[in-house]
Amino acid sequence: MNANDVVIVSAVRTPFGKFDGVLKTTRSFDIAIPVLKEVAGRIKLDPKDVDEVYYGTCIPAEYAILTNVPARQITLGAGFPEENISLTIDRACCSSMTALRLGYRAIKSGDAEVVIASGAENMGNVPLIASAEKVRWGSRLGPVAMEDVLFELGYGRRGFAPVATDAGHVSLEYGVSREKQDEWALKSHEKWFQAYKEGKFKIGEELMKLEISQKKGDPIVMDKDESPRANLSPEKMASLKPVYGSPTVTAANAPGMNSGASAIVIMSRRKAESMGLKVLATIEACQAAAGTPKYMACVPAQAIDKMLAKAGLSIDNIDLVEINEAFAAVTLVSLKMLAKDDPKKWQALQDKTNVNGGAIAIGHPVGASGARITMTMMYELMRRGGGTGVAAICGGLSQGEAIMIKV
Ligand SMILES: CC(C)(COP(=O)(O)OP(=O)(O)OC[C@H]1O[C@@H](n2cnc3c(N)ncnc32)[C@H](O)[C@@H]1OP(=O)(O)O)[C@@H](O)C(=O)NCCC(=O)NCCS
Repeated sequence: MNANDVVIVSAVRTPFGKFDGVLKTTRSFDIAIPVLKEVAGRIKLDPKDVDEVYYGTCIPAEYAILTNVPARQITLGAGFPEENISLTIDRACCSSMTALRLGYRAIKSGDAEVVIASGAENMGNVPLIASAEKVRWGSRLGPVAMEDVLFELGYGRRGFAPVATDAGHVSLEYGVSREKQDEWALKSHEKWFQAYKEGKFKIGEELMKLEISQKKGDPIVMDKDESPRANLSPEKMASLKPVYGSPTVTAANAPGMNSGASAIVIMSRRKAESMGLKVLATIEACQAAAGTPKYMACVPAQAIDKMLAKAGLSIDNIDLVEINEAFAAVTLVSLKMLAKDDPKKWQALQDKTNVNGGAIAIGHPVGASGARITMTMMYELMRRGGGTGVAAICGGLSQGEAIMIKV
């Protein structure tokens, strides 16, 4: 233990909403603001003591219809002082884990003592838009077409394949069948329900309650993730047609289009001790990676390998793993790579990965997921009395982030 260690002292998220759920018209800012207040409020951290807030969000059309500079909007909205420095990060689905890495670097370098790494997304609130080319500067006659930026997440419009399509092809290349992906997806829901029954997703730990004001009447109180599905039928899952031309990815083995926010307070151990705060976990390492755009399913493994090699560790030294279920294909391909294709090792890794369910059940509000998987793993390590965990996430066009924490 070292005074310069970077430690986690508070971590919280909202329940994650489904595409057409109760949050569908709430702005992502209004999901992020209460989380920022809660993550600081839980440890009585005065916002004036926060040097920087990093905020991941990666579907700009959602907030751009209202205004820009989302990180600045949410810090001012949450009552942080005008002097607070903030930064919006878009590294696709990696964004809030990138926020953690940049915070880790800032604290390690001595530039900052206290950083909040956060992220939010509301995919249900993404507007349909009309392009300037066709509307502002064109369309003298005839109907005006709307564009859906959510469709294929826009990748197809720049000549890339949709991520679901790439993930499907790569999974088959790595010998991970559609059946295996469906089986993993089913377990993701089952593990969430088991964890929920055991009180693991209770308010006050990983989760906070979210109140959504209504035009009339009392606010709706959201205290639970909306996407987990009970009593799934493997036959119905097997009957679903793949989406976006993917050979394997379906609505059942993909996450939905979700909403939610997450935030983590990190600081130097010296600062935590001087404030008398309980250290929840130590960040041992952070690692970014990137690879060939088509091979997004491989990049969590590449980021983990790179991180562990630098630390002189092997995946066998790790107690718990989180690999974001961008699709079941991603988690399974990356685990197979980490297992070096050894079937026994692959199974052993599956047994310690996403043990309380993953994004397929919980949801994947893209900008919030990197911080979410980090805290889900941290709270589980705390329940187990300690250990070392690695979490990794992929982002569009094959970007990756990994983090290693010790409880
Ligand atoms: C996959 C996706 C296209 C599905 O969208 P959708 O069609 O609106 O999804 P729905 O929830 O309506 O599900 C479609 C059908 O599958 C069924 N279904 C979904 N999950 C199921 C499950 N686990 N078991 C059985 N059936 C399921 C639904 O009941 C529905 O059936 P119906 O048509 O008979 O009502 C969309 O969620 C998506 O694009 N997800 C990926 C998001 C993404 O790319 N994130 C970034 C990753 S990098």
